[in-house]
Amino acid sequence: MYNSKIVGAGHYVPEKIVTNKDLEKIMDTSDEWIRERSGIEERRFAEMGVDTTANMGTKSAKIALERAGLTADDVDFIVFATLSPDYYFPGPGVTVQHELGCKRTVGALDVRNQCSGFIYSLSVADQFIKTGMYKTILVIGSELQSSGLDLTTRGRGVSVLFGDGAGAVVLQRTEEENKGILSTHMHSEGQFAELLCVKSPGNHTKEKFYKDMHEDYKNTSPQMDGQAVFKNAVVRFSQVIMEALKANNCAPADLDMFVPHQANLRITQFVQRKLQLPDNKVYSNIQKFGNTTAATIPIILSELWEKKGIKENDLFVLAAFGSGFTWASALIRW
Ligand code: UT7
Repeated sequence: MYNSKIVGAGHYVPEKIVTNKDLEKIMDTSDEWIRERSGIEERRFAEMGVDTTANMGTKSAKIALERAGLTADDVDFIVFATLSPDYYFPGPGVTVQHELGCKRTVGALDVRNQCSGFIYSLSVADQFIKTGMYKTILVIGSELQSSGLDLTTRGRGVSVLFGDGAGAVVLQRTEEENKGILSTHMHSEGQFAELLCVKSPGNHTKEKFYKDMHEDYKNTSPQMDGQAVFKNAVVRFSQVIMEALKANNCAPADLDMFVPHQANLRITQFVQRKLQLPDNKVYSNIQKFGNTTAATIPIILSELWEKKGIKENDLFVLAAFGSGFTWASALIRW
């Protein structure tokens, strides 16, 4: 069995910055409320017709490949995580295969696990590499969520939290022992599916899908029971991190960096206190980008890559929780 290692990371965010003050102008909210409850100061919104979920993914993938010293022709497989695809079907993975200009007709898999999507995707890619089936895999998380948000007072409980952006990593085979992805851990609890979801268009009601699409406007924006999600998140984050550490005979004190999905700064701080991690071992960028769902973790990895914030042998834990509910972690030795 081989191991897989991240050999490049890149990200792309749209140029347009939307501050909390900008949101105050279009709904009944306040900069103070958003900062206090979530830590968010601003987020990026895509320009429709310019950015798409797939092309932001492609842009981040190009940077990741360049940093890895590789080209599109080295890519054996693509895994793409998103909850905001360009088309209801097909998923955006195939668009990346085309936009990158891959000479080979490499496979492209789309993963629908929302906030945990990137870690689920990393885990899938890791298994393909471990078995020797593929050598180099692009793993992408990208979201264009702003177009689906209810940016009125009615939707403020959700819409102030989310932003657009993309991140990608290149995962490659290594024969080094105890290096790269040490383990991944994934969970779900579907009884809570409707606590954070977009209901329409879908096949969950007796209404026809077509009718849903045309008449059920009220359900086409995300809906969330914020407090229930928060309560579950803090418990599951801690559990799944400890699961990863225990599986590798490690303790929180061994960690060099905790890379949490950026759902809420208060969730991150709660988990940080529980694990007794110092500030310099926890990465947060929710202040700048809000919650970019499947893209939060690869954007952080790319920012750390740029800042040369990753050293050989560093031990990282990635963890996420979100809609499904699904939650997941990955332990990485660089
Ligand atoms: O990444 C996916 C996973 N997502 C999460 O993990 C999110 C988890 N949940 C949360 O982060 C928090 O629950 C929120 C940030 C969504 C909300 O914070 P909260 O402290 O749970 O507030 P709340 O929903 O209980 O709302 C408190 C009050 C309500 O008013 P009343 O009923 O107390 O008068 C809301 O109507 O705040 C009101 N409110 C707002 N006020 C100003 C809700 N949204 C807003 C807003 N601006 N944007």
